[in-house]
Amino acid sequence: MSFNEKELQKQLKEIFNDEVIRHTKPMMHDFAKLMAYYRCAIMEIETKFNVLNEEFSLRFDRNPINSIKSRLKSTASMREKLERRGFAMSVDSIEENLNDVAGVRVICSFPDDVYMLADALLKQDDIELVEKKDYIANPKPNGYRSLHLIVTVPIFLEKEKRLMKVEIQLRTIAMDSWASLEHQLRYKKDNIFDEQMANELLRCAELSAELDKRMDSLRAKVQFETQE
Ligand code: GTP
Ligand code: MG
Repeated sequence: MSFNEKELQKQLKEIFNDEVIRHTKPMMHDFAKLMAYYRCAIMEIETKFNVLNEEFSLRFDRNPINSIKSRLKSTASMREKLERRGFAMSVDSIEENLNDVAGVRVICSFPDDVYMLADALLKQDDIELVEKKDYIANPKPNGYRSLHLIVTVPIFLEKEKRLMKVEIQLRTIAMDSWASLEHQLRYKKDNIFDEQMANELLRCAELSAELDKRMDSLRAKVQFETQE
């Protein structure tokens, strides 16, 4: 999501008088600034994973990361979550109470890569772990698997250093395709999501976990020898 402050101000001026604009301007500015900081934090985290991917591919001649997808939470979801959890509706409250404004999803080749990358990131001395949820070791009842980390990463601005929270989801290609299918089925308009469908999805999740396990043991058989 990109946030164009000037464009929004132009639109607001067409609706509201100067008094209203004077009141809302500082808030809009603070919001635009906060979103810019989150975009910077996403860049920092993406770079860290890209560096790890480079290093690993030099050593083992294969890429642990298949792809990285990042997003800023939509304004509608921010509002919904603040309301649902009874938090104040302010820019400060967004930063204080929402852990997933900045989201980075790392799609890995194998389950082992998920843990290797998470450990390598968490070892870095500028990364603080806020929360870890291991839905691979403990899948959700519906079958969802992924490793979730909430971390803080510093961004270096002209005059200050700021710690920003980022939600990182690490998962394999199989976990990702299941999650994306489940999401589509669950949120599809007019779709009846019944018990039979839920059971079938759970079965698919089990098959997908089995696939990951077998692929991992295949990988272990192929020698990706270190060149050191
Ligand atoms: P949220 O309010 O949804 O953020 O829940 P939470 O704060 O308890 O976080 P949790 O770590 O459980 O989930 C956060 C994110 O993981 C979601 O926004 C989704 O992107 C993803 N996720 C979690 N559970 C599921 C699931 O059952 N299916 C799919 N497709 N994605 C999920
Ligand atoms: Mg969330």
